[in-house]
Amino acid sequence: MKLPNHNPTQLTAWKELEAHFSAIQDQTILNLFETEKDRLNQLAFTWEDFYVDLSKNRLTQKTIQLLIKLAKEAELPSAIASYFSGEAINETENRAVLHTALRAQGNTAIKVDGEDITPEIKRAKEKMYGFAKEVLSGQWKGYTGKSIDSIVNIGIGGSDLGPAMVTEALEYYGNHLTPYFVSNVEGDHHKEILKKIDPETTLFLVISKTFTTQETLSNANSIREWFLSSAPESAISQHFVAISTNLEKIDAFGIAPENVFPMNDWVGGRFSLWSSVGLSICLAIGPDHFENLLRGAGAMDQHFRDSPTEKNIPTLLALISIWYNNFWQAESEAIIPYTQYLRNLPAYLQQGIMESNGKGVDRNGNAINYQTGTLIWGASGTNAQHAFFQLIHQGTKLIPTDFIGFKESLHETGDHQAKLLSNFIAQTEALMCGKSEATVQKELEEKGLSKEQILQLAPFKVFTGNRPTNTLLIKKLTPYNLGALIAIYEHKIFVQGILWNIFSYDQWGVELGKQLSSAILEEVKNKAITAHDPSTNHLIKNCFNEGQK
Ligand code: F6P
Repeated sequence: MKLPNHNPTQLTAWKELEAHFSAIQDQTILNLFETEKDRLNQLAFTWEDFYVDLSKNRLTQKTIQLLIKLAKEAELPSAIASYFSGEAINETENRAVLHTALRAQGNTAIKVDGEDITPEIKRAKEKMYGFAKEVLSGQWKGYTGKSIDSIVNIGIGGSDLGPAMVTEALEYYGNHLTPYFVSNVEGDHHKEILKKIDPETTLFLVISKTFTTQETLSNANSIREWFLSSAPESAISQHFVAISTNLEKIDAFGIAPENVFPMNDWVGGRFSLWSSVGLSICLAIGPDHFENLLRGAGAMDQHFRDSPTEKNIPTLLALISIWYNNFWQAESEAIIPYTQYLRNLPAYLQQGIMESNGKGVDRNGNAINYQTGTLIWGASGTNAQHAFFQLIHQGTKLIPTDFIGFKESLHETGDHQAKLLSNFIAQTEALMCGKSEATVQKELEEKGLSKEQILQLAPFKVFTGNRPTNTLLIKKLTPYNLGALIAIYEHKIFVQGILWNIFSYDQWGVELGKQLSSAILEEVKNKAITAHDPSTNHLIKNCFNEGQK
Protein backbone atom coordinates (compact mmCIF):
# COMPACT_ATOMS: atom_id res chain seq x y z
CA MET A 1 0.00 0.00 0.00
CA LYS A 2 1.43 3.40 -1.06
CA LEU A 3 -0.59 5.44 1.42
CA PRO A 4 -0.96 4.99 5.15
CA ASN A 5 -4.00 2.98 6.09
CA HIS A 6 -5.80 3.82 9.32
CA ASN A 7 -9.44 3.69 10.27
CA PRO A 8 -9.64 7.27 11.58
CA THR A 9 -12.28 6.40 14.16
CA GLN A 10 -9.85 4.00 15.81
CA LEU A 11 -7.13 6.60 16.28
CA THR A 12 -6.56 7.99 19.77
CA ALA A 13 -7.04 11.58 18.62
CA TRP A 14 -10.45 10.72 17.11
CA LYS A 15 -11.65 9.37 20.44
CA GLU A 16 -10.22 12.41 22.19
CA LEU A 17 -12.01 14.64 19.71
CA GLU A 18 -15.30 12.88 20.49
CA ALA A 19 -14.87 13.58 24.20
CA HIS A 20 -13.71 17.11 23.48
CA PHE A 21 -16.74 17.71 21.25
CA SER A 22 -19.08 16.80 24.11
CA ALA A 23 -17.18 19.13 26.38
CA ILE A 24 -17.25 22.22 24.15
CA GLN A 25 -20.35 21.85 22.01
CA ASP A 26 -22.36 24.35 24.01
CA GLN A 27 -19.79 27.11 23.88
CA THR A 28 -20.42 29.88 21.40
CA ILE A 29 -17.82 31.30 19.07
CA LEU A 30 -18.38 34.74 20.58
CA ASN A 31 -17.70 33.41 24.07
CA LEU A 32 -14.55 31.74 22.84
CA PHE A 33 -13.25 35.15 21.80
CA GLU A 34 -13.70 36.12 25.48
CA THR A 35 -12.01 33.06 26.94
CA GLU A 36 -9.23 32.73 24.37
CA LYS A 37 -7.59 36.13 24.42
CA ASP A 38 -5.15 35.33 21.63
CA ARG A 39 -7.76 33.60 19.47
CA LEU A 40 -7.54 35.82 16.41
CA ASN A 41 -3.76 35.71 16.39
CA GLN A 42 -3.74 31.95 16.66
CA LEU A 43 -6.34 31.37 13.99
CA ALA A 44 -5.59 33.98 11.34
CA PHE A 45 -2.86 33.40 8.78
CA THR A 46 -1.16 35.53 6.18
CA TRP A 47 0.39 33.92 3.14
CA GLU A 48 1.54 36.14 0.26
CA ASP A 49 -1.63 38.05 -0.84
CA PHE A 50 -3.93 35.86 1.27
CA TYR A 51 -5.35 36.59 4.69
CA VAL A 52 -7.15 33.54 6.04
CA ASP A 53 -9.26 34.00 9.15
CA LEU A 54 -10.39 30.74 10.76
CA SER A 55 -11.35 32.31 14.08
CA LYS A 56 -15.12 32.41 13.43
CA ASN A 57 -15.43 28.66 13.96
CA ARG A 58 -16.89 26.47 16.68
CA LEU A 59 -13.53 25.29 17.92
CA THR A 60 -10.89 26.04 20.50
CA GLN A 61 -7.12 25.91 20.53
CA LYS A 62 -7.49 22.43 21.98
CA THR A 63 -9.66 21.37 19.02
CA ILE A 64 -6.95 22.45 16.62
CA GLN A 65 -4.30 20.61 18.64
CA LEU A 66 -6.37 17.43 18.58
CA LEU A 67 -7.09 17.73 14.86
CA ILE A 68 -3.38 18.15 14.23
CA LYS A 69 -2.72 15.11 16.39
CA LEU A 70 -5.27 13.23 14.27
CA ALA A 71 -3.46 14.26 11.08
CA LYS A 72 -0.17 13.03 12.52
CA GLU A 73 -1.62 9.73 13.69
CA ALA A 74 -3.07 9.27 10.21
CA GLU A 75 0.49 9.83 8.90
CA LEU A 76 -0.45 12.82 6.81
CA PRO A 77 3.18 14.04 6.43
CA SER A 78 4.30 10.76 4.83
CA ALA A 79 1.20 10.78 2.59
CA ILE A 80 2.09 14.30 1.41
CA ALA A 81 5.57 13.08 0.56
CA SER A 82 4.12 10.17 -1.47
CA TYR A 83 1.74 12.53 -3.29
CA PHE A 84 4.47 14.93 -4.42
CA SER A 85 7.02 12.27 -5.22
CA GLY A 86 4.91 10.55 -7.86
CA GLU A 87 4.08 7.31 -6.09
CA ALA A 88 1.05 5.56 -7.58
CA ILE A 89 -1.27 6.79 -4.82
CA ASN A 90 -4.28 6.39 -7.12
CA GLU A 91 -4.06 2.71 -6.31
CA THR A 92 -7.28 1.47 -7.87
CA GLU A 93 -6.06 2.77 -11.23
CA ASN A 94 -2.37 2.24 -10.43
CA ARG A 95 -1.47 5.84 -11.27
CA ALA A 96 0.51 8.65 -9.75
CA VAL A 97 -1.31 11.91 -8.96
CA LEU A 98 0.91 14.64 -10.25
CA HIS A 99 -1.03 17.73 -11.21
CA THR A 100 1.45 19.44 -8.87
CA ALA A 101 4.29 18.50 -11.29
CA LEU A 102 2.66 20.66 -13.98
CA ARG A 103 3.24 23.79 -11.93
CA ALA A 104 6.40 22.79 -10.06
CA GLN A 105 8.89 25.63 -9.84
CA GLY A 106 12.62 24.90 -10.13
CA ASN A 107 14.44 22.08 -11.84
CA THR A 108 14.03 19.16 -9.47
CA ALA A 109 13.37 15.88 -11.27
CA ILE A 110 9.96 14.31 -10.67
CA LYS A 111 9.91 10.62 -11.44
CA VAL A 112 7.12 8.35 -12.57
CA ASP A 113 8.16 4.70 -12.86
CA GLY A 114 11.77 5.82 -12.58
CA GLU A 115 11.57 8.37 -15.40
CA ASP A 116 11.85 12.12 -14.97
CA ILE A 117 8.67 13.67 -16.38
CA THR A 118 9.79 17.30 -16.18
CA PRO A 119 11.29 17.45 -19.72
CA GLU A 120 7.99 16.11 -21.10
CA ILE A 121 6.03 18.72 -19.16
CA LYS A 122 8.30 21.45 -20.50
CA ARG A 123 7.87 20.24 -24.09
CA ALA A 124 4.08 20.11 -23.77
CA LYS A 125 4.04 23.63 -22.34
CA GLU A 126 6.28 24.96 -25.09
CA LYS A 127 4.00 23.44 -27.72
CA MET A 128 0.94 24.97 -26.07
CA TYR A 129 2.52 28.42 -25.67
CA GLY A 130 3.89 28.37 -29.23
CA PHE A 131 0.48 27.49 -30.61
CA ALA A 132 -1.27 30.14 -28.48
CA LYS A 133 1.17 32.79 -29.70
CA GLU A 134 0.53 31.85 -33.34
CA VAL A 135 -3.22 32.04 -32.88
CA LEU A 136 -3.12 35.26 -30.88
CA SER A 137 -0.79 37.03 -33.30
CA GLY A 138 -3.05 36.12 -36.21
CA GLN A 139 -0.31 34.06 -37.80
CA TRP A 140 -2.47 30.94 -37.53
CA LYS A 141 -5.05 31.19 -40.28
CA GLY A 142 -8.37 29.54 -40.88
CA TYR A 143 -9.03 27.77 -44.18
CA THR A 144 -10.08 30.98 -45.96
CA GLY A 145 -7.02 32.89 -44.77
CA LYS A 146 -8.74 34.74 -41.92
CA SER A 147 -7.36 34.83 -38.37
CA ILE A 148 -9.08 33.13 -35.49
CA ASP A 149 -11.50 35.12 -33.33
CA SER A 150 -13.41 32.38 -31.46
CA ILE A 151 -12.52 29.17 -29.66
CA VAL A 152 -14.89 26.37 -28.76
CA ASN A 153 -13.85 24.03 -25.95
CA ILE A 154 -15.60 20.68 -26.48
CA GLY A 155 -15.31 18.54 -23.34
CA ILE A 156 -17.15 17.62 -20.16
CA GLY A 157 -16.38 17.20 -16.44
CA GLY A 158 -12.73 17.98 -15.83
CA SER A 159 -12.28 18.71 -19.53
CA ASP A 160 -14.80 21.53 -19.25
CA LEU A 161 -15.39 22.80 -15.71
CA GLY A 162 -11.82 23.91 -14.95
CA PRO A 163 -11.18 25.61 -18.31
CA ALA A 164 -14.63 27.23 -18.26
CA MET A 165 -14.39 28.44 -14.67
CA VAL A 166 -10.86 29.86 -15.03
CA THR A 167 -11.52 31.48 -18.40
CA GLU A 168 -14.58 33.18 -16.95
CA ALA A 169 -12.75 34.09 -13.73
CA LEU A 170 -9.93 35.73 -15.67
CA GLU A 171 -12.06 37.42 -18.30
CA TYR A 172 -10.51 40.73 -17.27
CA TYR A 173 -7.15 39.44 -18.55
CA GLY A 174 -8.68 38.28 -21.84
CA ASN A 175 -7.91 39.27 -25.40
CA HIS A 176 -9.70 39.40 -28.76
CA LEU A 177 -10.62 35.68 -28.71
CA THR A 178 -14.13 34.80 -27.60
CA PRO A 179 -14.23 31.48 -25.73
CA TYR A 180 -17.23 29.14 -25.83
CA PHE A 181 -17.79 25.87 -23.98
CA VAL A 182 -19.83 22.92 -25.19
CA SER A 183 -20.30 20.08 -22.73
CA ASN A 184 -23.81 18.63 -22.46
CA VAL A 185 -24.84 15.91 -24.86
CA GLU A 186 -28.13 17.44 -25.95
CA GLY A 187 -27.76 18.95 -29.40
CA ASP A 188 -29.35 22.16 -28.15
CA HIS A 189 -26.22 23.09 -26.23
CA HIS A 190 -23.88 23.16 -29.19
CA LYS A 191 -26.53 24.40 -31.64
CA GLU A 192 -26.92 27.63 -29.64
CA ILE A 193 -23.17 28.16 -29.79
CA LEU A 194 -22.92 27.40 -33.50
CA LYS A 195 -25.36 30.27 -34.08
CA LYS A 196 -22.78 32.67 -32.69
CA ILE A 197 -19.63 31.57 -34.50
CA ASP A 198 -18.19 31.69 -37.97
CA PRO A 199 -16.56 28.41 -39.12
CA GLU A 200 -13.90 30.37 -41.00
CA THR A 201 -12.59 32.04 -37.85
CA THR A 202 -13.21 29.45 -35.16
CA LEU A 203 -10.89 26.97 -33.55
CA PHE A 204 -12.38 23.83 -31.97
CA LEU A 205 -10.56 22.18 -29.09
CA VAL A 206 -11.70 18.62 -28.54
CA ILE A 207 -10.72 17.71 -25.00
CA SER A 208 -11.12 14.28 -23.54
CA LYS A 209 -8.59 12.42 -21.46
CA THR A 210 -9.98 9.08 -22.59
CA PHE A 211 -11.41 10.24 -25.94
CA THR A 212 -14.24 7.80 -25.35
CA THR A 213 -16.65 10.10 -23.50
CA GLN A 214 -20.05 9.94 -25.17
CA GLU A 215 -20.94 13.61 -24.68
CA THR A 216 -17.66 14.95 -26.01
CA LEU A 217 -17.43 12.65 -29.00
CA SER A 218 -21.06 13.21 -29.98
CA ASN A 219 -20.60 16.97 -29.81
CA ALA A 220 -17.26 16.85 -31.63
CA ASN A 221 -18.72 14.69 -34.41
CA SER A 222 -21.79 16.87 -34.88
CA ILE A 223 -19.74 20.05 -34.84
CA ARG A 224 -17.31 18.53 -37.33
CA GLU A 225 -20.24 17.68 -39.61
CA TRP A 226 -21.57 21.22 -39.30
CA PHE A 227 -18.11 22.58 -40.08
CA LEU A 228 -17.74 20.37 -43.14
CA SER A 229 -21.07 21.56 -44.49
CA SER A 230 -19.27 24.77 -45.47
CA ALA A 231 -15.59 23.85 -45.41
CA PRO A 232 -13.53 21.24 -47.25
CA GLU A 233 -12.13 18.17 -45.43
CA SER A 234 -8.62 19.61 -45.76
CA ALA A 235 -9.67 22.53 -43.51
CA ILE A 236 -9.97 20.27 -40.47
CA SER A 237 -6.27 20.66 -39.67
CA GLN A 238 -6.60 24.44 -39.40
CA HIS A 239 -9.66 24.32 -37.15
CA PHE A 240 -9.59 21.21 -34.96
CA VAL A 241 -7.08 20.34 -32.26
CA ALA A 242 -7.29 17.60 -29.66
CA ILE A 243 -6.10 17.15 -26.10
CA SER A 244 -6.06 13.56 -24.90
CA THR A 245 -4.03 10.58 -23.73
CA ASN A 246 -5.65 8.40 -26.41
CA LEU A 247 -3.69 8.99 -29.61
CA GLU A 248 -5.32 6.12 -31.52
CA LYS A 249 -8.82 7.47 -31.04
CA ILE A 250 -7.76 10.98 -32.03
CA ASP A 251 -6.30 9.59 -35.21
CA ALA A 252 -9.56 7.79 -35.96
CA PHE A 253 -11.41 11.09 -35.45
CA GLY A 254 -9.20 12.65 -38.12
CA ILE A 255 -7.15 15.17 -36.18
CA ALA A 256 -3.61 15.53 -37.46
CA PRO A 257 -0.83 14.42 -35.04
CA GLU A 258 0.71 17.91 -35.08
CA ASN A 259 -2.60 19.25 -33.73
CA VAL A 260 -2.56 16.94 -30.74
CA PHE A 261 -1.60 18.27 -27.33
CA PRO A 262 -0.57 15.57 -24.91
CA MET A 263 -2.13 14.67 -21.61
CA ASN A 264 -0.82 12.14 -19.14
CA ASP A 265 -2.49 9.48 -17.10
CA TRP A 266 -0.86 10.88 -13.94
CA VAL A 267 -3.18 13.89 -14.17
CA GLY A 268 -6.78 13.30 -13.13
CA GLY A 269 -9.49 14.96 -15.24
CA ARG A 270 -10.72 17.20 -12.41
CA PHE A 271 -7.17 18.38 -11.69
CA SER A 272 -6.14 18.87 -15.30
CA LEU A 273 -6.65 22.56 -16.05
CA TRP A 274 -2.91 23.05 -15.45
CA SER A 275 -2.05 20.77 -18.37
CA SER A 276 -2.80 21.06 -22.08
CA VAL A 277 -6.45 20.72 -21.02
CA GLY A 278 -6.04 24.39 -20.09
CA LEU A 279 -5.38 25.29 -23.73
CA SER A 280 -8.60 27.32 -23.92
CA ILE A 281 -7.45 29.26 -20.84
CA CYS A 282 -4.02 29.78 -22.37
CA LEU A 283 -5.61 31.07 -25.58
CA ALA A 284 -8.16 33.25 -23.81
CA ILE A 285 -5.70 35.00 -21.47
CA GLY A 286 -2.39 34.37 -23.27
CA PRO A 287 0.65 32.32 -22.19
CA ASP A 288 2.05 34.91 -19.75
CA HIS A 289 -1.08 35.00 -17.63
CA PHE A 290 -1.39 31.22 -17.91
CA GLU A 291 2.16 30.88 -16.61
CA ASN A 292 1.24 33.10 -13.66
CA LEU A 293 -1.73 30.87 -12.91
CA LEU A 294 0.69 27.93 -12.73
CA ARG A 295 3.15 29.92 -10.60
CA GLY A 296 0.47 30.77 -8.05
CA ALA A 297 -0.57 27.15 -7.77
CA GLY A 298 3.10 26.11 -7.56
CA ALA A 299 3.71 28.56 -4.71
CA MET A 300 0.71 27.16 -2.81
CA ASP A 301 2.03 23.63 -3.45
CA GLN A 302 5.27 24.61 -1.75
CA HIS A 303 3.40 26.11 1.18
CA PHE A 304 1.34 22.93 1.53
CA ARG A 305 4.30 20.58 1.20
CA ASP A 306 6.70 22.49 3.45
CA SER A 307 4.70 24.31 6.13
CA PRO A 308 4.12 22.75 9.52
CA THR A 309 0.60 21.44 10.02
CA GLU A 310 -0.32 24.20 12.49
CA LYS A 311 0.37 26.87 9.87
CA ASN A 312 -0.65 24.93 6.81
CA ILE A 313 -3.67 26.64 5.23
CA PRO A 314 -5.05 23.76 3.09
CA THR A 315 -4.50 21.28 5.93
CA LEU A 316 -6.21 23.46 8.53
CA LEU A 317 -9.18 24.03 6.21
CA ALA A 318 -9.43 20.27 5.66
CA LEU A 319 -9.22 19.50 9.38
CA ILE A 320 -11.89 22.07 10.24
CA SER A 321 -14.12 20.59 7.56
CA ILE A 322 -13.61 17.11 9.08
CA TRP A 323 -14.46 18.55 12.50
CA TYR A 324 -17.84 19.72 11.21
CA ASN A 325 -18.51 16.71 8.99
CA ASN A 326 -17.65 14.00 11.47
CA PHE A 327 -18.19 15.52 14.91
CA TRP A 328 -20.90 18.14 14.35
CA GLN A 329 -22.54 15.97 11.65
CA ALA A 330 -22.78 18.92 9.25
CA GLU A 331 -23.97 17.65 5.88
CA SER A 332 -22.81 20.36 3.56
CA GLU A 333 -20.48 23.30 3.08
CA ALA A 334 -21.18 26.46 1.16
CA ILE A 335 -18.54 28.31 -0.84
CA ILE A 336 -19.36 31.93 -1.52
CA PRO A 337 -16.98 33.94 -3.71
CA TYR A 338 -17.65 37.66 -3.47
CA THR A 339 -17.02 38.37 -7.12
CA GLN A 340 -19.11 37.65 -10.17
CA TYR A 341 -15.94 36.47 -11.93
CA LEU A 342 -15.88 33.41 -9.67
CA ARG A 343 -19.57 32.60 -10.00
CA ASN A 344 -18.72 29.12 -11.23
CA LEU A 345 -16.11 28.31 -8.60
CA PRO A 346 -18.68 26.35 -6.53
CA ALA A 347 -19.69 24.24 -9.57
CA TYR A 348 -16.04 23.59 -10.37
CA LEU A 349 -15.30 22.59 -6.78
CA GLN A 350 -18.35 20.34 -6.70
CA GLN A 351 -16.61 18.04 -9.15
CA GLY A 352 -13.23 18.37 -7.43
CA ILE A 353 -14.57 17.68 -3.97
CA MET A 354 -17.53 15.37 -4.51
CA GLU A 355 -16.08 13.24 -7.30
CA SER A 356 -12.91 12.82 -5.24
CA ASN A 357 -14.22 12.22 -1.77
CA GLY A 358 -17.73 10.90 -2.36
CA LYS A 359 -16.60 7.37 -1.44
CA GLY A 360 -18.13 4.76 0.86
CA VAL A 361 -15.34 2.18 0.86
CA ASP A 362 -12.03 2.61 2.66
CA ARG A 363 -8.53 1.88 1.40
CA ASN A 364 -8.91 -1.75 2.46
CA GLY A 365 -12.03 -2.16 0.35
CA ASN A 366 -14.28 -2.20 3.42
CA ALA A 367 -17.56 -0.32 3.74
CA ILE A 368 -17.14 2.79 5.85
CA ASN A 369 -19.22 3.55 8.93
CA TYR A 370 -18.33 7.24 9.24
CA GLN A 371 -19.17 10.20 7.01
CA THR A 372 -16.90 11.14 4.10
CA GLY A 373 -17.35 13.68 1.26
CA THR A 374 -19.22 16.86 2.05
CA LEU A 375 -21.96 18.27 -0.17
CA ILE A 376 -20.70 21.44 -1.80
CA TRP A 377 -22.83 24.28 -2.99
CA GLY A 378 -22.73 28.02 -3.37
CA ALA A 379 -23.04 31.05 -5.62
CA SER A 380 -21.45 34.44 -5.97
CA GLY A 381 -21.61 36.93 -3.11
CA THR A 382 -24.53 39.28 -2.97
CA ASN A 383 -26.59 37.12 -5.36
CA ALA A 384 -26.35 34.30 -2.81
CA GLN A 385 -27.42 36.64 -0.01
CA HIS A 386 -30.64 37.37 -1.87
CA ALA A 387 -31.25 33.71 -2.69
CA PHE A 388 -30.37 31.14 -0.02
CA PHE A 389 -28.73 32.99 2.87
CA GLN A 390 -32.02 32.88 4.77
CA LEU A 391 -31.39 29.17 5.33
CA ILE A 392 -27.78 29.69 6.38
CA HIS A 393 -28.79 32.40 8.89
CA GLN A 394 -31.99 30.99 10.35
CA GLY A 395 -32.42 27.42 9.05
CA THR A 396 -32.10 24.27 11.11
CA LYS A 397 -28.98 23.00 9.39
CA LEU A 398 -25.40 23.75 10.29
CA ILE A 399 -23.66 24.99 7.15
CA PRO A 400 -20.00 25.95 7.55
CA THR A 401 -19.36 28.54 4.85
CA ASP A 402 -16.22 29.77 3.11
CA PHE A 403 -16.28 33.45 2.27
CA ILE A 404 -13.81 34.35 -0.47
CA GLY A 405 -13.30 38.04 -1.18
CA PHE A 406 -10.84 40.36 -2.89
CA LYS A 407 -9.67 43.62 -1.33
CA GLU A 408 -9.25 45.38 -4.66
CA SER A 409 -11.68 45.27 -7.55
CA LEU A 410 -10.37 44.97 -11.08
CA HIS A 411 -12.36 47.93 -12.40
CA GLU A 412 -12.85 51.04 -10.34
CA THR A 413 -16.56 51.77 -10.18
CA GLY A 414 -17.55 54.40 -7.61
CA ASP A 415 -18.31 52.88 -4.23
CA HIS A 416 -19.29 49.42 -5.51
CA GLN A 417 -16.23 47.72 -4.06
CA ALA A 418 -16.77 49.32 -0.65
CA LYS A 419 -20.36 48.11 -0.72
CA LEU A 420 -19.31 44.61 -1.77
CA LEU A 421 -16.70 44.32 0.97
CA SER A 422 -19.10 45.66 3.58
CA ASN A 423 -21.53 42.92 2.66
CA PHE A 424 -18.74 40.34 2.67
CA ILE A 425 -17.69 41.29 6.19
CA ALA A 426 -21.19 41.91 7.54
CA GLN A 427 -22.36 38.43 6.63
CA THR A 428 -19.68 36.62 8.62
CA GLU A 429 -20.31 38.96 11.55
CA ALA A 430 -24.06 38.37 11.38
CA LEU A 431 -23.63 34.62 11.13
CA MET A 432 -21.40 34.54 14.19
CA CYS A 433 -23.00 37.20 16.39
CA GLY A 434 -26.65 36.73 15.49
CA LYS A 435 -29.25 38.99 17.06
CA SER A 436 -30.69 38.30 20.52
CA GLU A 437 -34.32 38.46 21.48
CA ALA A 438 -33.61 41.45 23.72
CA THR A 439 -32.09 43.37 20.81
CA VAL A 440 -35.00 42.47 18.56
CA GLN A 441 -37.50 43.62 21.17
CA LYS A 442 -35.66 46.90 21.69
CA GLU A 443 -35.59 47.56 17.94
CA LEU A 444 -39.31 46.88 17.66
CA GLU A 445 -40.06 49.11 20.63
CA GLU A 446 -38.13 51.90 18.95
CA LYS A 447 -40.28 51.41 15.89
CA GLY A 448 -43.33 52.00 18.06
CA LEU A 449 -44.85 48.50 18.02
CA SER A 450 -47.18 47.50 20.83
CA LYS A 451 -46.08 44.96 23.48
CA GLU A 452 -48.35 42.37 21.96
CA GLN A 453 -47.07 42.96 18.46
CA ILE A 454 -43.50 42.72 19.74
CA LEU A 455 -44.13 39.42 21.47
CA GLN A 456 -45.71 38.01 18.35
CA LEU A 457 -43.04 39.16 15.92
CA ALA A 458 -39.84 38.84 17.94
CA PRO A 459 -39.20 35.07 17.59
CA PHE A 460 -39.07 35.37 13.80
CA LYS A 461 -36.55 38.17 13.91
CA VAL A 462 -34.08 36.50 16.25
CA PHE A 463 -30.80 35.23 14.80
CA THR A 464 -29.27 32.50 16.92
CA GLY A 465 -25.84 33.20 15.46
CA ASN A 466 -22.88 30.94 16.25
CA ARG A 467 -22.79 29.88 12.59
CA PRO A 468 -19.26 29.12 11.44
CA THR A 469 -17.34 30.69 8.58
CA ASN A 470 -13.85 30.76 7.12
CA THR A 471 -12.80 34.04 5.54
CA LEU A 472 -10.30 34.08 2.70
CA LEU A 473 -9.48 37.69 1.93
CA ILE A 474 -7.19 38.01 -1.07
CA LYS A 475 -5.56 41.20 -2.32
CA LYS A 476 -6.74 41.02 -5.92
CA LEU A 477 -8.10 38.54 -8.45
CA THR A 478 -4.99 37.85 -10.52
CA PRO A 479 -4.05 34.67 -12.42
CA TYR A 480 -1.41 34.00 -9.74
CA ASN A 481 -3.82 34.34 -6.83
CA LEU A 482 -6.48 32.28 -8.59
CA GLY A 483 -3.94 29.50 -9.15
CA ALA A 484 -3.10 29.53 -5.44
CA LEU A 485 -6.77 29.56 -4.44
CA ILE A 486 -7.60 26.53 -6.57
CA ALA A 487 -4.54 24.71 -5.23
CA ILE A 488 -5.75 25.34 -1.64
CA TYR A 489 -8.93 23.41 -2.39
CA GLU A 490 -7.07 20.67 -4.28
CA HIS A 491 -4.87 20.03 -1.25
CA LYS A 492 -7.83 20.24 1.09
CA ILE A 493 -9.36 17.38 -0.93
CA PHE A 494 -6.15 15.38 -0.58
CA VAL A 495 -5.90 15.83 3.18
CA GLN A 496 -9.52 14.85 3.73
CA GLY A 497 -9.11 11.74 1.59
CA ILE A 498 -6.06 10.70 3.60
CA LEU A 499 -7.80 11.15 6.94
CA TRP A 500 -10.99 9.44 5.81
CA ASN A 501 -8.84 6.55 4.55
CA ILE A 502 -10.37 6.60 1.08
CA PHE A 503 -8.97 6.79 -2.44
CA SER A 504 -9.65 10.33 -3.70
CA TYR A 505 -8.38 10.01 -7.26
CA ASP A 506 -10.63 7.44 -8.90
CA GLN A 507 -14.30 7.92 -9.80
CA TRP A 508 -15.85 4.49 -10.27
CA GLY A 509 -19.17 5.90 -9.11
CA VAL A 510 -19.76 7.61 -12.46
CA GLU A 511 -19.47 4.38 -14.46
CA LEU A 512 -22.74 2.53 -13.82
CA GLY A 513 -24.98 5.27 -15.22
CA LYS A 514 -22.78 5.47 -18.35
CA GLN A 515 -22.95 1.71 -18.81
CA LEU A 516 -26.73 1.55 -18.43
CA SER A 517 -27.35 4.52 -20.72
CA SER A 518 -25.33 2.82 -23.48
CA ALA A 519 -27.39 -0.33 -23.00
CA ILE A 520 -30.68 1.60 -23.16
CA LEU A 521 -29.55 3.48 -26.25
CA GLU A 522 -28.76 0.20 -28.01
CA GLU A 523 -32.11 -1.29 -27.02
CA VAL A 524 -33.97 1.75 -28.29
CA LYS A 525 -32.05 1.78 -31.57
CA ASN A 526 -32.71 -1.91 -32.09
CA LYS A 527 -36.29 -1.61 -30.87
CA ALA A 528 -35.54 -4.43 -28.44
CA ILE A 529 -36.32 -3.15 -24.99
CA THR A 530 -35.28 -5.89 -22.62
CA ALA A 531 -36.69 -6.29 -19.15
CA HIS A 532 -35.84 -3.54 -16.72
CA ASP A 533 -37.75 -2.78 -13.56
CA PRO A 534 -41.33 -1.58 -14.20
CA SER A 535 -40.55 2.10 -13.64
CA THR A 536 -37.57 2.06 -16.03
CA ASN A 537 -39.44 0.08 -18.67
CA HIS A 538 -42.26 2.57 -18.60
CA LEU A 539 -39.94 5.56 -18.80
CA ILE A 540 -38.16 4.09 -21.81
CA LYS A 541 -41.45 3.45 -23.58
CA ASN A 542 -42.71 6.88 -22.63
CA CYS A 543 -39.61 8.66 -23.93
CA PHE A 544 -39.44 6.71 -27.14
CA ASN A 545 -43.16 6.78 -27.90
CA GLU A 546 -43.97 3.14 -27.53
CA GLY A 547 -47.20 2.81 -25.61
CA GLN A 548 -46.90 6.35 -24.31
CA LYS A 549 -49.17 7.25 -21.41
O1 F6P B 1 -17.63 10.90 -15.81
C1 F6P B 1 -16.68 11.52 -15.05
C2 F6P B 1 -15.41 11.78 -15.81
O2 F6P B 1 -14.70 10.61 -15.96
C3 F6P B 1 -14.59 12.83 -15.09
O3 F6P B 1 -13.80 12.34 -14.10
C4 F6P B 1 -13.86 13.45 -16.22
O4 F6P B 1 -13.38 14.70 -15.87
C5 F6P B 1 -14.94 13.50 -17.28
O5 F6P B 1 -15.66 12.32 -17.08
C6 F6P B 1 -14.48 13.63 -18.70
O6 F6P B 1 -13.65 12.58 -19.07
P1 F6P B 1 -12.75 12.67 -20.38
O7 F6P B 1 -11.81 13.82 -20.21
O8 F6P B 1 -12.05 11.37 -20.48
O9 F6P B 1 -13.67 12.91 -21.55
